[in-house]
Amino acid sequence: MENSNDVIHRAAEIIRKGGIVAFPTETVYGLGADAFNPIAVARIFEVKGRPYFDPLIVHVASPSDLDKLVIEIPSKAKKLIGQFWPGPLTVVLLKKENVPDIVTAGLPTVAVRMPKHPMALNLIEQADCPIAAPSANPFGYLSPTTARHVREQLGDRVDLILDGGPCPVGVESTILSFTEKEPLLLRPGGVELEEIESIIGRVKISPMKEDKPSSPGMLPRHYAPRTPIVINWSEKNIDFHRGRKIGLLSFKEPKNCLKCYHVEVLSRKGDLREAAANLFAAIRRLDALNLDLILAETVPEVGLGRAIMDRLRRASQDQFIDSSRSLP
Ligand code: TXA
Ligand code: MG
Repeated sequence: MENSNDVIHRAAEIIRKGGIVAFPTETVYGLGADAFNPIAVARIFEVKGRPYFDPLIVHVASPSDLDKLVIEIPSKAKKLIGQFWPGPLTVVLLKKENVPDIVTAGLPTVAVRMPKHPMALNLIEQADCPIAAPSANPFGYLSPTTARHVREQLGDRVDLILDGGPCPVGVESTILSFTEKEPLLLRPGGVELEEIESIIGRVKISPMKEDKPSSPGMLPRHYAPRTPIVINWSEKNIDFHRGRKIGLLSFKEPKNCLKCYHVEVLSRKGDLREAAANLFAAIRRLDALNLDLILAETVPEVGLGRAIMDRLRRASQDQFIDSSRSLP
């Protein structure tokens, strides 16, 4: 059997030659190509079914690689990079002209992050180029947190899948834009907003709007399973669903099982980090059961809870609907 160094070596060669490789990061699995090869990057969009208006994150192996990609790094961005790289923080900065338009969807900015997963870092180093990579899932679906998730959905459509085990963080990176006067949070993620604000002070939070996504890819319906998922519910309206096959996505140990067909518990002790790490795999397991409905419990909106609630709202169909109504 090929050892992991040999596989990474082969993966790097595929990237150098213009191929596409799925690889683990600490957040979710990515689907990567040489960021400076527009034809290779185009294949990522094709394989994912991703619209070209949705720009990609460029992954680097060292903070110094940023100089190849961006014009300048504001001091607040520098501070955060010093603190959180390698790790789940993506910064959006003004791009250099040589960054291909297909990577940035024609925007004057580019999103960059340095992942923490040793396999990802090794791959980028050996490929010797920044790697543009979205999450390795079909567009709109949940992000993969294991190599098996990638195999099941993209399988033979990618040149190689690197298996680095389950992703320890489990939700995507936090995205912060530095292209306006004030830093702007585009997506809550693996680095807590509280930690960021303790270093650079207040950050503006971009609202989730249906008509005008704050960042091109931040569509309100996203990260979604096939089964309808509902977050605004109470035990009162369960009776309404008698006879239907319901799954429960529970944050902690559930008090009662509400006559559900299956229950997934994100963290028995109610730990938000553990819950985030289990989130997408748990929803996938529920989604495989041919349920009529998934009821998701809400979690406290602090720390990693912000990212969890953001993903649950986007995954559900009821994010813009009055919570007082009855279930669909
Ligand atoms: O943790 C992560 O960030 C994972 C792993 C693979 O690194 N990647 C990831 O990529 O979640 P993706 O493509 O699924 O989400 C990237 C988000 C999109 O919503 C996109 O709109 C936003 O980043 N984005 C990329 N470039 C941008 C830019 N120049 N300005 C604003 N938003 C940008
Ligand atoms: Mg994605």
